[in-house]
Amino acid sequence: MSFSKDFLWGTSISAAQAEGGWNEGGRAPVQVDFADVGSASSSGRHLIYKKKDGSKGELTGAYAMFPHLPEGGEYASFDDVYYSNRKASDFYHHYKEDIALMAEMGFSTFNTTISWARIFPYGIQGGVNQEGVEFYRNVFKELRKYNIDPIITLYKYDEPIYFEQTYGGWSNRKMIDEFVKFARVCFIEYKDLVNKWITFNEINVLLLFRNLPHNQKIAQERYQELHHQLVASARTVKLAHQINPQNKVGCMMAGMCTYPLTPDPVDVMENYKYFQDIFCYATDTMIRGQYPSFAKRMWKEDEVEVIMTDQDLKDLKEGTVEFLGFSYYMSQCRTTHTDANMTKGNIFTGFENPYLQKSEWGWQIDPLGLKYYMHYIYDRYQIPLLIIENGLGATDQVEEDGSIHDSYRINYLREHISAMKEAVEEGVDLMGYTTWGGIDLVSASTGQIEKRYGLIYVDANDKGEGTYKRIKKDSFYWYKKVCESNGEDLE
Ligand code: BG6
Repeated sequence: MSFSKDFLWGTSISAAQAEGGWNEGGRAPVQVDFADVGSASSSGRHLIYKKKDGSKGELTGAYAMFPHLPEGGEYASFDDVYYSNRKASDFYHHYKEDIALMAEMGFSTFNTTISWARIFPYGIQGGVNQEGVEFYRNVFKELRKYNIDPIITLYKYDEPIYFEQTYGGWSNRKMIDEFVKFARVCFIEYKDLVNKWITFNEINVLLLFRNLPHNQKIAQERYQELHHQLVASARTVKLAHQINPQNKVGCMMAGMCTYPLTPDPVDVMENYKYFQDIFCYATDTMIRGQYPSFAKRMWKEDEVEVIMTDQDLKDLKEGTVEFLGFSYYMSQCRTTHTDANMTKGNIFTGFENPYLQKSEWGWQIDPLGLKYYMHYIYDRYQIPLLIIENGLGATDQVEEDGSIHDSYRINYLREHISAMKEAVEEGVDLMGYTTWGGIDLVSASTGQIEKRYGLIYVDANDKGEGTYKRIKKDSFYWYKKVCESNGEDLE
């Protein structure tokens, strides 16, 4: 048997991408509520806002994902824009049905996020929104009813607009106290229901967006925002253990598996440097309790000075995490050779690998890369890993009889699970695997629900039309066998 008997199988979703109910239950708006829908061929989605003169303004790319509205800009809704996150998969109203379907698949875990905007819609000053607290209590109780052990993430790409308006976002230290207070409420309220937590989702991606193009002011802001998040996370980890010694808290990183495109030593160095900067800078700090030695090189190169107190450094040391969660979808290449072709990805882009196939959205498919990456990072950190996101975004066809034959998704998952199984058999300590978006949800990079990751289909399209009815795909039945056989039956 490859996987331990307590290995966790399930799926992962997020509040902003699945819940909907954006203006229900006392929830305040979050930035991504104002983003539109892109397509497989577009460069992504836009964050739409009202300019000072009343006309429509748009932020694109990284500016849309980590927005700061230009001076005089306001968050406002326009009738001719469809805002896909506002209803998303409507998990807010369907959670009982969705959880029953997860139980039918034999899940032992489920990862979702708590929307900060439901618990503290207007920060500490506005107080706790009891309706939001009860919503998640009901979700967690429902999971426990089926013996599903939740893994709960506190923050994932859903900053309440209140924090941008009040503090200017994470570059302000006050966000640390706000976050820790939010975490405290969650740890106390859900003490008997949840004991596996993740503080920040893909905290490492902030540094991907430090030069847009090279812009020292933005770089300075990104490093400072990340520092505040790292300190907020460390304080939260300590608090989680004080409130409930049974709590296990992990970090969650965007897994960015990269290879040097050529054997040119300059490319090899370039690739390693990318791994240090984009993955290890944050991961080392969260697992080892201090910034790595190469951080000084990065600060110098990017001409930034990260402002930190002695207390911050103490907190980082004392608030280290116990497991390393990561997302894995693809691999890419790094090179200094200018004649190479670029390839697409969710938040990171790199160069094309001639040996790999691509998904409909242009993401390179590399199951062996998962095995390689698991060894690579486990060798470095030596703490349990958790694959918290992995899956294939694809267009699905509903047949006349209502069936959905998604053999492409089954193949993708089978190959990745096989590779992960080999890594486990070769000694990597892996505590669980959750596919991404087991219920179709809104894509982070394009806003499309028609970029489907689900094992469960949601009858809705990119214009928000549909019944939102749930339909089991072929992959639903296949993954049920995988979960029930603890990963032994992959046929
Ligand atoms: C991950 C994010 O990196 O990629 C998810 O954590 C996201 O939120 C996933 O949905 C897949 O990307 P996309 O753009 O296809 O939704």
